[in-house]
Amino acid sequence: MKAIVTGGAGFIGSHIAERLVNEGYSVTVIDNLHTGDKKNLKKISEKIKFVQKNASSIKTEGKADVVFHEGIYSSSPMYREDPELMGKAISDFISILEYCVKNDCKLVFASSSSIYNGYPPPHTETMFPKVKDFYTEARYPMERFADLFNQMYGLKYCGLRYFSVYGDKEESKGKFANMVSQIIWKGLLDKELIIYGDGSQRRDLINVGDVVSANIIAAKSGENGIFNVGNGKSYTFNEIIGMVEDIMQRKIKRKNIENPLKNYVDVVEADTAKSREILGFSPSVKIKDGIKAAYEYYKQLKKVPDIL
Ligand SMILES: NC(=O)c1ccc[n+]([C@@H]2O[C@H](COP(=O)([O-])OP(=O)(O)OC[C@H]3O[C@@H](n4cnc5c(N)ncnc54)[C@H](O)[C@@H]3O)[C@@H](O)[C@H]2O)c1
Repeated sequence: MKAIVTGGAGFIGSHIAERLVNEGYSVTVIDNLHTGDKKNLKKISEKIKFVQKNASSIKTEGKADVVFHEGIYSSSPMYREDPELMGKAISDFISILEYCVKNDCKLVFASSSSIYNGYPPPHTETMFPKVKDFYTEARYPMERFADLFNQMYGLKYCGLRYFSVYGDKEESKGKFANMVSQIIWKGLLDKELIIYGDGSQRRDLINVGDVVSANIIAAKSGENGIFNVGNGKSYTFNEIIGMVEDIMQRKIKRKNIENPLKNYVDVVEADTAKSREILGFSPSVKIKDGIKAAYEYYKQLKKVPDIL
């Protein structure tokens, strides 16, 4: 089986690429190295083909059996700085859709729980998107286009709405990394963690290993559609910091400031019924085990990002 992973030098993509290699797939990674780093692929670098290009360069690749599309600018502030990224993300996605139809291969792509911003939890796939930022604006048409290509040309696809993904190999994302990584880094550097508000905002955390499993299950499934990939349980920032402190056996310096962000979301929590019942996906990593594994990884690095 041949797989293409766009964004495969990034946080989630590199974990997908590694699992695929371990499962015996022949893997091509396409990544423009915007936030990714080839270091994330060092364990499998001899076993994969690496193409340092934009995701749309998939057009020149030979036939694959499955495409995992993670290669899009991955954080909301990037789109605030450059709204043209919305158009670029959609244009790249159309190249990927056309490639998958032409080569009759399944497409599994990253979408986002930010689609639900503004709704009270639990967040269910049938909710009509309430888009509040450019990053999410780019996601919704991707989901719509995948459905259109399915209706018009029989595209096989699963779009996965990731919730808050945490784990190891996030250091190249720096200030765009998940809060778990940022809390651990502050703890390791013994520097002050800035918290917007009182820390009572809640996030549905899912370990990157579970996200990889969801991708592989989706790739093998005969089902098409949009699926949540979350745990179905949310934790406050204060609870998450407490778990990191227990694992690190040290207090993390904190500073609570007034939240400067507009359209900030207080609670994010997945309804996991559809992905469980239709895809057969259920996360298995316990939060404390996942945080501990991430901590063990970051602890052995020579340095971790020192971000504001
Ligand atoms: N991490 C999360 O919690 C989370 C939550 C929801 C959605 N997502 C989405 O999942 C995907 C992967 O996220 P991640 O956390 O691994 O982020 P990441 O920044 O580590 O990974 C994105 C990768 O794609 C590459 N890339 C960006 N634009 C590209 C392009 N046009 N062509 C080729 N490569 C490109 C980057 O260099 C990077 O390696 C992204 O689409 C992100 O928006 C992530």
